[in-house]
Amino acid sequence: WPETATVVDGRLWVGGCDVVALADQFGTPLYLLDEVTLRGAMRAYRQAFAATYPGPFRVHYAGKALLNTALAQIVAQEGLGLDVVSATELLVARRAGMPMAHVHLHGNAKSDAELERALTWQVGAIVVDNLDELARLRAMSARLAEPQGVLLRIAPAIEADTHSHIATGGEAAKFGLPLAALDEAVAQTLAAPGLRWLGLHAHIGSQLFALDQVVATVEVLVSQAARLRERFGVTPVELSPGGGLGVPYTADQPSTDRFRYAQVVSEALQAACARYNLPLPRLTVEPGRSIVARAGVALYRVVGRKGRRWLNVDGGMADNIRPALYGARYSAVLANRAGEPAGEPVAVGGRYCESGDVLLREIALPPAQPGDLIAVATAGAYTLSMSSNYNLVPRPALVLVGNGRAHVIQRRETEDDVLARDVVLGGADAGTT
Ligand code: LLP
Repeated sequence: WPETATVVDGRLWVGGCDVVALADQFGTPLYLLDEVTLRGAMRAYRQAFAATYPGPFRVHYAGKALLNTALAQIVAQEGLGLDVVSATELLVARRAGMPMAHVHLHGNAKSDAELERALTWQVGAIVVDNLDELARLRAMSARLAEPQGVLLRIAPAIEADTHSHIATGGEAAKFGLPLAALDEAVAQTLAAPGLRWLGLHAHIGSQLFALDQVVATVEVLVSQAARLRERFGVTPVELSPGGGLGVPYTADQPSTDRFRYAQVVSEALQAACARYNLPLPRLTVEPGRSIVARAGVALYRVVGRKGRRWLNVDGGMADNIRPALYGARYSAVLANRAGEPAGEPVAVGGRYCESGDVLLREIALPPAQPGDLIAVATAGAYTLSMSSNYNLVPRPALVLVGNGRAHVIQRRETEDDVLARDVVLGGADAGTT
């Protein structure tokens, strides 16, 4: 739950706002983002690295977890950088006034148009994933007056202990240069007049709890950097062990500590650099989930009850696909009757036409009726950012709450929005685009 969550007279409040009133005002499903929790997480990351790493560092928010212009503005205000993965995420960074030097473009299949935008807007780094991308980038960057900074993403051959869909560091993963291809990539980068080699990046996966795998990643980055110095006489300006710190979604999951994470990463980097006699590089980390997940609350209206087991609600897999895709579990309360004792565990079914659309498989709530409001915790990350229009349902609004005030930062989709790309056969607009 967000730091500001409390129960007043049996009703859940977040950010100084009564969530029952917010649901009435803005409709459901509704996503809330608690500004105090959000900014607190960003500050905690910066303070933790400032306290533990003697060299320069940058914390980049990984926008794939949740991104819109208001959120990117907050990221910029808090002095964080931003990781983007598409041309439109890059556009959002620009709309938010994010300094382009603090933006990294990621992706394993970047289009020419995306690379072009990144070059034109002079992002801090393009994180090159593979040799084909590098060949295109060399050609495209040849015209530049100022060389484009490049990080090379390696596949460090570390199997992260997480869901297989979100483990990304294995030798055979689709992401990153296998170590056997790294020298080739460095040689090509160094020979390209339009590119400036900054260093190495790796990201082994998301929802990580075992920090020893993060330490192993840092060690691979540094040992490869040392090897590259021997071979090419270059030292990296920047090393980036990615993001991935896990967060607890349910009471049985371990809690994680950003300070401890920063300390472990910082110490591992210092120790490895000392061992190889490398100067301390700029350390860049890219947390997404551990910044935004806890700040988010999803509100659903109970539409119907079925037998003793099912509560059916007005949202589901199109706004949060994580239960269906990863078997993800969440905590929830009845927001309008939060203090009441729980009855028999129930399942909360989504509204979408699939048996797999079950938001909560087993949750103990006070006996609920149609009209009651279910609040799902830790709903900020990889929910709206992965949302769809399945069944042609408009997507929910996102409301920033803080100090008793609520601002819509992403309005609810309308039916017109959903049908904006729909072309009527034989109609006036048919076939024009
Ligand atoms: N850096 C890179 C290169 C990444 O690929 C990711 C996440 C991050 C940073 C941020 O990782 P985080 O701190 O958020 O764990 N949809 C999945 C998670 C996909 C993660 C993709 N990459 C889920 O809902 O669990």
